[in-house]
Amino acid sequence: MNIARTLRWIGLGGALAAWSGLAWAGIAESVHNLGVTGSGPSANGGIRNQFSGTAEICVFCHTPHGGDAGAAIPLWNRNLSDPAQYTTYDQLGTSTLDGQVADVGSVSIGCLSCHDGTQAMDSVINEPGSGADNPGFSAGVWSGDDVVGPSDGRLAPAIVQNLGTDLTNDHPIGIQYGGGGISASNPNPPQGETTDPDFAPVLYKQSNGRYLWWVDKDWRTGGDGVRSKTDVILYTRDAANGYPGQAEPEPFVECASCHDPHTTENPTFLRISNTETPSGLCLTCHVK
Ligand code: HEC
Ligand code: HEC
Ligand code: HEC
Ligand code: HEC
Repeated sequence: MNIARTLRWIGLGGALAAWSGLAWAGIAESVHNLGVTGSGPSANGGIRNQFSGTAEICVFCHTPHGGDAGAAIPLWNRNLSDPAQYTTYDQLGTSTLDGQVADVGSVSIGCLSCHDGTQAMDSVINEPGSGADNPGFSAGVWSGDDVVGPSDGRLAPAIVQNLGTDLTNDHPIGIQYGGGGISASNPNPPQGETTDPDFAPVLYKQSNGRYLWWVDKDWRTGGDGVRSKTDVILYTRDAANGYPGQAEPEPFVECASCHDPHTTENPTFLRISNTETPSGLCLTCHVK
C-alpha cells in the first residue's frame, strides 16, 4: 500500500470512528417507529403504540411504488381523508387572521391521516412484500396505551396527539404565510417581503421550475442562505397557477413547517427548538 492510500485509509477509518461515535438517533428511536423495533415510552409516558405485523418503519407512511399522489407528499402510503371533513382554524373567527386559507391538503393531510384519529395507523396502501392489501396489513395487532385497541389502530380519542377533525384549537395550517402574503420580491438574494411586518422575510429558490420556500432560522443575524431541514419550511399551494387571485405561487404554513416527522433533534419532532432560545420556533416566523 502506498503512502497516499495508507493515509486515505487512516482518513476513512477516522471518519468512520467519528461517525459511529456520534449520538445519532433518527426516526427509529422516536414514537414514529410503529413497528416491532420501537422502544421507549409513548409520547404520554405510558406503553408505546406498537404494531406486531412488521419490523419496518417507513412503510407506515411511505411506499416505493403505488402511493397516493392525491396530495404533494413524497411516496405517500396512506389513504387521504376528504378535506371537507375538517373545520379549519379560520372558522374560529378571530379578528386578526389576515392570510388566505386553503383546503386541508399538502403535507398536513398526510399527518392528519393518523393524527385526526379517524383512520387506523396500519391502514396503508401497499404493505411490505409482494402485493397490496389496501387498506391495511394482512396480519398484526396493536399494543400500547395510546391506541384504541388491538384490532383498532386509531389513535386513542382522549390524548393530545389526537387532534380530531376540528382544527379551530390548533395553530393554523393551510394558511398563507406573511399575514396576507408576499408584497414584493427582491431577486438578490431571492427574498420575499411580507405584507405584514410582523412576519420574518421568506427566502425562495426554484427547482424544476417550482418554488421552494423557507424562513432561515437565523435570519435576524443574516442566516446561511441554505434551505435545510432545521429551518422553517413553507409549502407552495396550487403551484401551477398560484393561489387563486394571485399572480405568483404562494408559500403556506403546514404541519411540517414546524415539525420534521423524522427528527429526534428536538422534542415533539420540532425543526427548531422552542426552549434553547425561549419560544425560538414561534419567534422564527413571528416578529414579536
Ligand atoms: C410518520 C410518518 C412517516 C414515517 C414513519 C416516515 N416518514 Fe418520511 N416523510 C413523512 C412526511 C409527512 C414527509 C414530508 C415532510 C416534508 O415535507 O418535509 C416525509 C418526507 C420524507 C422524505 C423527503 C423529505 C426529507 O425530509 O428528506 C424522505 C427522503 C423520507 N421522508 C424518507 C423516509 C424514510 C427513509 C423513512 C423510514 C426510515 C421515513 N421517511 C419514515 C412522513 C414519514
Ligand atoms: C411557519 C411560521 C410560523 C411559526 C413557526 C409559527 N407561526 Fe403562528 N402563525 C403563522 C402564520 C402565517 C399565521 C397566520 C397569520 C395571519 O394570516 O394573520 C399565524 C398565526 C398565529 C396566531 C394568530 C392567529 C389569529 O387568529 O390571528 C397566533 C396566536 C400564533 N400564530 C401563535 C404562534 C405560536 C405561539 C407559535 C409557536 C408555538 C407560532 N405561532 C409559530 C406562522 C407561524
Ligand atoms: C402512521 C401514523 C402517523 C403519521 C402519518 C404521523 N404521525 Fe405523528 N405520531 C404518531 C404516533 C403513533 C405518535 C405517538 C402517539 C403516542 O405515543 O401517544 C405520534 C406522535 C407525534 C407527535 C408528538 C411527539 C411527542 O413526543 O409528543 C408529533 C409532534 C407528531 N406525531 C407530529 C406529526 C406530524 C407533523 C406528522 C406529519 C408530518 C405526523 N406526526 C404523521 C403517528 C403518526
Ligand atoms: C406553527 C408551528 C406548528 C404547526 C404548524 C403545527 N405544530 Fe404541532 N406542535 C408545535 C409545537 C411548538 C408543539 C409543542 C407543544 C408543546 O410543547 O406542548 C407541537 C406539538 C404537537 C403535538 C404533540 C402535542 C403535545 O402538546 O404534546 C402533535 C401531535 C402535533 N404537534 C401535531 C401536529 C400536526 C398533525 C400538525 C398539522 C395539522 C401540527 N402539529 C402543526 C408547533 C406546530
